[in-house]
Amino acid sequence: MSMTQAEALLASRRSTRAFLSDPVPRADIERILRSARAAPSGANLQPGRFHVLTGDALRDLSAALVGAVDRGQPPVSQYSYFPDPMPADLKAKQRAAGYALYAALGVERRDVQGRRAQFRRNYEFFGAPVGIVVTIHAGMGKGCFMDLGMALMALMIAAQGLGYATCGIGALANYADVAHDHLGLAQPELIVCGLALGRADPQAPQNQFCTERDTLDRFATLRGFT
Ligand SMILES: Cc1cc2nc3c(=O)[nH]c(=O)nc-3n(C[C@H](O)[C@H](O)[C@H](O)COP(=O)(O)O)c2cc1C
Repeated sequence: MSMTQAEALLASRRSTRAFLSDPVPRADIERILRSARAAPSGANLQPGRFHVLTGDALRDLSAALVGAVDRGQPPVSQYSYFPDPMPADLKAKQRAAGYALYAALGVERRDVQGRRAQFRRNYEFFGAPVGIVVTIHAGMGKGCFMDLGMALMALMIAAQGLGYATCGIGALANYADVAHDHLGLAQPELIVCGLALGRADPQAPQNQFCTERDTLDRFATLRGFT
């Protein structure tokens, strides 16, 4: 059975954490945003906003974020991403994803400096030529976050269809206050995550690993099928 185009795009998507410097034309960004905008949303509220930065605009934001990280500014998130405390089974998944990245980079488990350097890369949008700051109105309910997630996935897949790679950056929310002030966003606009977008660096070690997934019977239950 041959793969559909959708299956092929979904199966080959990876979080990409090293990029070539090739600029992304505005026409491609608009095309990608149009696809993201086509995502469904409850009551068609279309609750998300995508602030797309490149060139000096991206460099300036990265400098502000990295400055905050390097100064040891305490993280301030406007919402909670993960359960707190994290249950052991989820902690194990989080660790596995982290170890896969660090193993690809040759960063040892006890190498605090190496880990910190990689953490810092989040705030440089992993060197991508395009960085996106993803926001939602702070008053939106949980369902609206689901809507935003669908638009985000549509954006990732549309980008991939044009030969670009992406990586979500939840870590951006740790310095939401910095990004918020720097971009002069409206007060109730809550920063959900960032996204790096550009052409993948095919040689970079951090792009050479693949994360695991739950088995299908854990992921879903099927009833009534023959
Ligand atoms: C909304 C979102 C936020 C993410 N935040 C980060 C992040 O801050 N830093 C990072 O290195 N990866 C981040 N990721 C990438 C995940 O770690 C990655 O999707 C997961 O490990 C599965 O790997 P895959 O995307 O290669 O399939 C994020 C992904 C999503 C969807």
